[in-house]
Order: sequence, then C-alpha cells, then structure tokens
Amino acid sequence: MKKLALLAIPAALALAFTTTTLAADGKTVYADNCAKCHGDDGKGATKMGQKLGAKDYSDAAVQAAVTDDQAFKAIKEGMKKDDKTLMKSSELSDEDIKASVAYLRTLKK
Ligand code: HEC
Repeated sequence: MKKLALLAIPAALALAFTTTTLAADGKTVYADNCAKCHGDDGKGATKMGQKLGAKDYSDAAVQAAVTDDQAFKAIKEGMKKDDKTLMKSSELSDEDIKASVAYLRTLKK
C-alpha cells in the first residue's frame, strides 16, 4: 500500500505538469510565437516586425479592421503579400491560436 502511494505522487505531478503546459495560455503562446514580430506590446516595433511591415495592434483602428475569424485563418494558414510570406502557417493547436489572438486583443490601448 505504502509503495503504491509513493508511486502515485510522481504520476500526479507529471499529470499536473502536462495539463499546465497543454492548457492554452494566450500570453505564453503569444510570447513564444508572436512577439518576435508583433512585439510584446503588439506594436510590431521589433526588427522582424519592421522588416515585414507588422501593424500596430495597440491601435484600436488596426484591431477593428481584423475579425477574430480573419486573424485565426491568417495565423493557421499563413499570410502572404505577393511573393512575400508575412506569417508562416502555424503548427499551433486551434486553442492556442485562439488564445494568442485573444491575448493580442488585450494589447489594444
Ligand atoms: C514572422 C513574423 C510574424 C509572426 C511570428 C507572427 N506574425 Fe502575425 N503578422 C505578421 C505580419 C508581417 C502581418 C501583416 C501585417 C499586420 O497585419 O500586422 C501579420 C498579420 C497578423 C494579423 C492580421 C491578420 C489579417 O487578416 O489581417 C494578426 C491578427 C496576427 N498577425 C497575429 C499574430 C499572432 C497571434 C501570432 C502568433 C501566433 C503571429 N501573428 C505571428 C508577422 C508575424
């Protein structure tokens, strides 16, 4: 009995760890996958963002011009302008994409 209980502890810890990493945390997803272009503040003032022409998502008008569906599709399938790839199609899960868009929405000033 005692041995079983001891075995259960690491299993429970492992489970807790997996659930937290898998849960869609918009801020983390954004920081890891979007901030290098769109910037921590959404302004797109990073080197990559400037080069690719990322818009200023702290601007309410820029935010209003994009629906959640458009944003989702652009991230999921990628976005191109002429021959230039602006965003590559993403390998993120649908939940993570939605969470990152939701986080981007919070950067509106
Ligand atoms: C390689 C740089 C890069 C990365 C990484 C990137 N983006 Fe973009 N993204 C762009 C550029 C450039 C555009 C086009 C100009 C604009 O709308 O800012 C764009 C466009 C968008 C748009 C507007 C889509 C539309 O239909 O107009 C949204 C929303 C967006 N990105 C969100 C994100 C989110 C959320 C992530 C992370 C999951 C992400 N981007 C990752 C560069 C990037």
